[in-house]
Amino acid sequence: MSLQGKETKLLFQKAKSVIPHGVNSNFRYWGDDDTLVITKGEGAYIWDADGKRYIDYRLGFGPIILGHGYPEVVETVQGAIADGVVFAWTTPWEISLAERITKMCKVDKVRLTNTGTEATMHALRIARAHTGREKFIKFEGQYHGMVDYFMYSTASSNLSSLGSKRSPINAVTTSGIPKAINQYVINLPFNDFERLEETIAAKWHDIAAVFVEPMLGNCAGVMPQKGYLEKIRELCTKYGIVLVFDEVKTGFRIANGGAQEFFKIQADLVTFAKAMGNGFPVAAIAGKEDVMMTIQPGAMAHGGTYSGNVAGAAAAVATLEILEKQPVIETINKRGNALMTGIDEVLTEAGIPHVVTGVPAMFGILLGTDEEPKDFRDYLNGDGHLYEKIGMEIIRNGIQPDADGREPWFLCYALSDEDVAETLNVFNDAVKKAKD
Ligand SMILES: Cc1ncc(COP(=O)(O)O)c(C=O)c1O
Repeated sequence: MSLQGKETKLLFQKAKSVIPHGVNSNFRYWGDDDTLVITKGEGAYIWDADGKRYIDYRLGFGPIILGHGYPEVVETVQGAIADGVVFAWTTPWEISLAERITKMCKVDKVRLTNTGTEATMHALRIARAHTGREKFIKFEGQYHGMVDYFMYSTASSNLSSLGSKRSPINAVTTSGIPKAINQYVINLPFNDFERLEETIAAKWHDIAAVFVEPMLGNCAGVMPQKGYLEKIRELCTKYGIVLVFDEVKTGFRIANGGAQEFFKIQADLVTFAKAMGNGFPVAAIAGKEDVMMTIQPGAMAHGGTYSGNVAGAAAAVATLEILEKQPVIETINKRGNALMTGIDEVLTEAGIPHVVTGVPAMFGILLGTDEEPKDFRDYLNGDGHLYEKIGMEIIRNGIQPDADGREPWFLCYALSDEDVAETLNVFNDAVKKAKD
């Protein structure tokens, strides 16, 4: 049964006639029958063009931390943009935002960009310029945006394309990447201490950066094992490698100070986007004084016409102020814990082997195994088909996480206890149906 009602179908056909596959990001294409057209969002809900309401756990792939159309954020942006949006000069909004980020995330300096991709792209350049080295390490199943360098062994890769764990292969995830790029990228399995130590000891003189999503935000929220992030930190310090925490998903979501606060580890550079603007396009590269000051007019480039634009900066100032003043993460954690526990109980009762991974603000569900996944390969050994079957059934019934289990469930402040109860009821029915 198609997810599209009559109006949605009509609009999607229109979209397809002028937009390749009817979407402005490939990740949003769910096939010709199940790709939605959304006309409204409010709080924890979205409505499609046929007026069908969903409790939203995709939240735009994570940015909505407060709720859709959050009044205080909208009003701040409306007020600010009435005086203009870009001036090719610094505005007080940018200063206020940078001050907030330095305070909340214990970083020295901040540069603004518009998207996570721009932030990670610049972070890689800064790390290379800072160290004079060209290669970098990333981890399988991690996604750092659309830059050529990062499009290897992401969560879109197949198990068979990754090679053996002893000597992983860089699995290119899209056409259009020049072959030469491959030589700069080293992919490692996450949580593998031995591989990490061995690789850095052998190649450190070529390695500019270790890029890491501190928890796998693009692979079911798989968590770092005890001591793993500490080990990365220790090795980066020892060998003069720039440690980059890609906090595009975890930033301002898993704690007010993001993964650095949550895991009690300071990186050298951090990239933020998503939750910082509650859905407005705003992102940041932040970090330690000496690394950030590698940026130098005329010598080491960072730029962008819209970087620090008033709409994004004002939205982020308003969002971060609410995060600081109200119990946002605390409330999300409470509801997320109830949801994770409830899901665990439903699956246990149904006798389906499973693990609920991640943290309440962004968690994943792995089916077909009882073993805590350590890396992307473990995730791929789970039962993704069963997850999708249950996922599509709950979506048909008005509860919308991503049908692909790699994308975590995201929670926002506006989600209520009643929403959690409704979600668990629908989930219970879907699990029973899937079993039958
Ligand atoms: C960890 C991480 N880094 C970078 C990006 C890219 O961000 P954007 O889509 O804003 O370019 C994403 C997007 O999902 C992400 O999850």
